[in-house]
Amino acid sequence: MSQDGRVQEHLIATYRKKAKHYDVTSRLYPAPGYPQRSQRLRAVQSLGLRAGASVIDVACGTGLNFQLIEEAIGPEGRIVGVDLTDAMLARAQDRIKANGWRNISLVQADAADFGFPAGVDAILSTYALTQVPDCAAVIAHGTGALAAGGRWAVLDLKVPDSTPQWLARLGTATVRRLAGADEWIMHRPWEAIRAAMREELADFSWTELFFGTAFLAAGSRGPC
Ligand SMILES: C[S@@+](CC[C@H](N)C(=O)[O-])C[C@H]1O[C@@H](n2cnc3c(N)ncnc32)[C@H](O)[C@@H]1O
Repeated sequence: MSQDGRVQEHLIATYRKKAKHYDVTSRLYPAPGYPQRSQRLRAVQSLGLRAGASVIDVACGTGLNFQLIEEAIGPEGRIVGVDLTDAMLARAQDRIKANGWRNISLVQADAADFGFPAGVDAILSTYALTQVPDCAAVIAHGTGALAAGGRWAVLDLKVPDSTPQWLARLGTATVRRLAGADEWIMHRPWEAIRAAMREELADFSWTELFFGTAFLAAGSRGPC
């Protein structure tokens, strides 16, 4: 098995273990009191959703964004949640059932291989895309499927630009145990996301959140 394959297996095994308590433990992520809920709200708002819109939630996990998206698109809208980990999707399915939502479908897939449906109105990914090795390709594939004027938004963690390497390692070691905090810091995947979104999207915006520990990147597909 390739190194990428091994990393992915480890990631799936990790999220299988986390799935059951993810909704509770994620409230402490990356640290207790972190303003995750307000960041999610901001990310969904950046999509400019209207009633009836179609939205892909990439690496949706247990579906923590679904309620906010549902409030914007209503029952005529449509959500497709995509995730690699079966156990996270099982929790998302429980959430769908508990809320009686009939307009959400779930797909188990690697975001890098997912066939985005053509003409979708918006794509969102929260706290996940920096874990996907080929995140630039995901952004390119997604953009290709967006309707003209459709929106892409990515919310994720990053290391503040001014942080010395040793301090960044210390801080993120606690929250990025998956493929290794060192690798995540060294590769600075948020930079690949920023470059890909700037390249692919019109009216690209990049906003640093909470002292540079997170970012919200967003933009629209230009005329097709
Ligand atoms: C920290 S959780 C975030 C879940 C959700 N987006 C949220 O905001 O709560 C990361 C999720 O990314 C998923 N994931 C990681 N790599 C992926 C990939 N290559 N393709 C699809 N999903 C992936 C994991 O299975 C996990 O559910």
